[in-house]
Amino acid sequence: MNYIAPSILNADFAHLHRSIEMFNASEADWIHLDIMDGVFVPNISFGMPVVAAVSRITTKPLDAHLMIVQPEKFIAEFKQLGVNILTVQYEACTHLHRTLQQIQQAGMKAGVAINPHTPVSVLEEIAAVADLVLVMSVNPGFGGQKFIANSADKVARAKDLLLRKKSAALIEVDGGVNRHNARLLRDAGADILVVGNAILAANNPTEEIAVIKNL
Ligand code: DX5
Ligand code: ZN
Repeated sequence: MNYIAPSILNADFAHLHRSIEMFNASEADWIHLDIMDGVFVPNISFGMPVVAAVSRITTKPLDAHLMIVQPEKFIAEFKQLGVNILTVQYEACTHLHRTLQQIQQAGMKAGVAINPHTPVSVLEEIAAVADLVLVMSVNPGFGGQKFIANSADKVARAKDLLLRKKSAALIEVDGGVNRHNARLLRDAGADILVVGNAILAANNPTEEIAVIKNL
């Protein structure tokens, strides 16, 4: 799969509709929503009212990435707001298997994200359940950070594990992705590339989406 999911984290929130309308008219496949609680990560981003606003005006599936503790508390609410793919952090879930099943039972695709320090091997027993594996290529918390160099190798290791486990889970990569590393990540097995700053800081964001998608 060859998807691109623009992140709104570094958008101008006073004019958020402009970014969403630009994504609607672009080759973007999903819209990536980064929810941060100031506890799991050292930053607070946005919450339900913003998700609801994006949901009202977007024509693209919503891909929500929860960087929060106790994400299981909010599964029903995200479903109600129109989220299609809900990803939780491995490090924030004591009962990850149950949480992924609850997300699926609510009618969404269930993703599990792993931080840069978390080895791919923790996915061994969950690979068969997850619909998506998100490999973090920066430490979560902020947009516009530098891509961690060994992340493409990590994607390749995740791909191997999923094949070995006969899992159909998709691989998403998030953090510091741009036109210079996108090809490498796709070759390593990435299905969905999350791109924030590289799109929003580009002179022509619509064109940047097309360039990265079609590399
Ligand atoms: C980081 C977020 C990412 C980030 C991507 O905590 O999960 O989705 O916003 O933005 P860039 O592409 O700017 O790293
Ligand atoms: Zn994210």
